[in-house]
Amino acid sequence: MSERPFSQACENNKGPILAVLQQHCQAPGALLEIGSGTGQHAAWLSAQLPHLQWQASDVADNLSGIRLWQQEPANRSLPALELDVSGDWPAGPYRYLFTANTFHIMSAEQVSRCIKQGCERLEAGGAFLVYGPFNYDGRYTSESNARFDAWLKAAGSHRGIRDQEWVVEAFSRHGATLRADHAMPANNRILVFTR
Ligand SMILES: C[S@@+](CC[C@H](N)C(=O)[O-])C[C@H]1O[C@@H](n2cnc3c(N)ncnc32)[C@H](O)[C@@H]1O
Repeated sequence: MSERPFSQACENNKGPILAVLQQHCQAPGALLEIGSGTGQHAAWLSAQLPHLQWQASDVADNLSGIRLWQQEPANRSLPALELDVSGDWPAGPYRYLFTANTFHIMSAEQVSRCIKQGCERLEAGGAFLVYGPFNYDGRYTSESNARFDAWLKAAGSHRGIRDQEWVVEAFSRHGATLRADHAMPANNRILVFTR
């Protein structure tokens, strides 16, 4: 049997992420996770939030690893869907959308498309939650984020930490406003948008 992919960062951030999801995702409903990565978040968070129908997704290469995590007995997430934000999207609608550590990996054009397509599928009264590092007023929030951004750009010129204000503006073009901006461990944030 193949070995499950593993991210230590996911183990470290899953508890703090859960606390924010518990605050903003109280009503039952369907949640689409974009860029599920290893699948650790989907397997663990879905078990803690049984009132949500958690739909994991990612690009094709990551689906087999996510499905290994979905074999955990406590997992409640639905079998991972193939979703490249540049391609076709499931019809939805979703009460919630969640994505972690993807906006600095996707190109700016892909982030814009993710926001547009996600907002079009977001139910009124629901929330779109985005976890990751962001810059504010054109500045890094830490030296480690500055180093991380240099590393990202060396790995791919389309990558990079986004400006929080640019993300807020992109959501506003699709009728969504920033309801909360939570500080998270390790110089990350969770931005919560509602329509
Ligand atoms: C740094 S990983 C984060 C994974 C996981 N969410 C986490 O927090 O550990 C970035 C994720 O973004 C996904 N991703 C990158 N480009 C994408 C695209 N165009 N459409 C969907 N997902 C994409 C990658 O496949 C990967 O799973």
